[in-house]
Amino acid sequence: MTPGTPLGRMTPLGRADPAKEARLLARIIETISAGLDLEEILRGIAALTTETTQTDVCFVYLLDETGERLVLGGATPPFHALAGQVELKMGEGISGWVAAHGRPAVITEDKHADQRYKHLPALGREDFTSLASVPIHSGSVHHGPPRLVGVLNVHTRQRREFSDADVQLLGWMAGLMAGAIENARLHRMLARREEAMERFAERIVLAQETERRRLAGEIHDGISQRVVSLSFHLSAAADALNESPHVAAREIAEAQALAEAALDETRLAIAGLHPPVLDDLGLAASLESLAGSIPQLEVHAEASPCELPAHVATSVYRIAQEALQNVVKHAGASQARVRLLSHGDTITLEIEDDGKGFSPEAGNAATGYGLPGMRERAELLGGTLEVKSYPGQGTLLRLRFPANNQARP
Ligand SMILES: Nc1ncnc2c1ncn2[C@@H]1O[C@H](COP(=O)(O)OP(=O)(O)O)[C@@H](O)[C@H]1O
Ligand SMILES: [Mg+2]
Repeated sequence: MTPGTPLGRMTPLGRADPAKEARLLARIIETISAGLDLEEILRGIAALTTETTQTDVCFVYLLDETGERLVLGGATPPFHALAGQVELKMGEGISGWVAAHGRPAVITEDKHADQRYKHLPALGREDFTSLASVPIHSGSVHHGPPRLVGVLNVHTRQRREFSDADVQLLGWMAGLMAGAIENARLHRMLARREEAMERFAERIVLAQETERRRLAGEIHDGISQRVVSLSFHLSAAADALNESPHVAAREIAEAQALAEAALDETRLAIAGLHPPVLDDLGLAASLESLAGSIPQLEVHAEASPCELPAHVATSVYRIAQEALQNVVKHAGASQARVRLLSHGDTITLEIEDDGKGFSPEAGNAATGYGLPGMRERAELLGGTLEVKSYPGQGTLLRLRFPANNQARP
């Protein structure tokens, strides 16, 4: 909260009107305790904010989980329809500046003259003249250091001089609403994870069956066939041992070749079950080894070592494996790149190819098991999976998740 606590001597409305203030407080409480539905809360906040500050529109941007981007979370109509579709990098535009500096910004007129301003085509025509923007911080002196939750903006069509008291009121409202926003986000994240867990559990059962069938097939058609012939060759060798030692020697050589083949097949079957390198080499080196194991494709790997629990490393490896399989199967690429980065609290895995690309939005992305499976793994890691691809332009797959996540094994 800004100095000169609004509920103290000076009222948030900048004038002594306790009845009005009490009404406002009651409305805020009503809005923030409306439930745990994030969209509903943001819609309520936007409406209440425009009404209270007598402005025309309100935008609520939320800091995404990587802490690098602001995403429009809610707004007054008609802009609420753009929730989730408008993004700003930290430092970009007025809102990005407010987020990066943790300070309010006011523009009275001629926003184009302000170096911080950036026109967002997604928001359409710009018929707004003045704006005020404040950071939304949660936490207080009593509950640890404040955390940036997002940015709250109000705009007016008519020229408006936002006073210090206006900005203070906006900041005060933002502070009161921050906790509710955080709770709703947390709730949404947990609900998504739980859903992902449920779907994942179903798929695990299915995948287990498929895997068992594969393994049974490999043992039956490959390994056990070879062991059967191996045993024939050994009996033939035993029969021939006395009369014709050279036949026995040939049979033994055959048997040896079959034993080696069976061993190779056993190794392959095991490797398909669990990536054996992962335990020995760790994730970074395993990804490099994975990249080197694809003869059809030139794959550059760049992986910085990071300490991750085994089940997390396995998930990341599986996502990389499936992504590279997709590159081989579908992309017709000549080159691909695998990158594993650890930046602050965030781990990023990128798989990029220069192949033919596709439309991730189109139905084909939902039909395979691969992409949905990767998404579920990402959600279980408490992270996100982005697929950037256009026909003719290659594909970039980006997994991001917090390193210190509490994903369940
Ligand atoms: N790297 C890629 N390049 C081109 N197309 C891709 C790529 N990755 C995925 N696709 C497309 O997305 C579809 C879905 O992929 P996925 O879910 O892994 O299923 P599957 O690999 O079993 O077809 C693929 O069939 C393909 O059309
Ligand atoms: Mg696939």
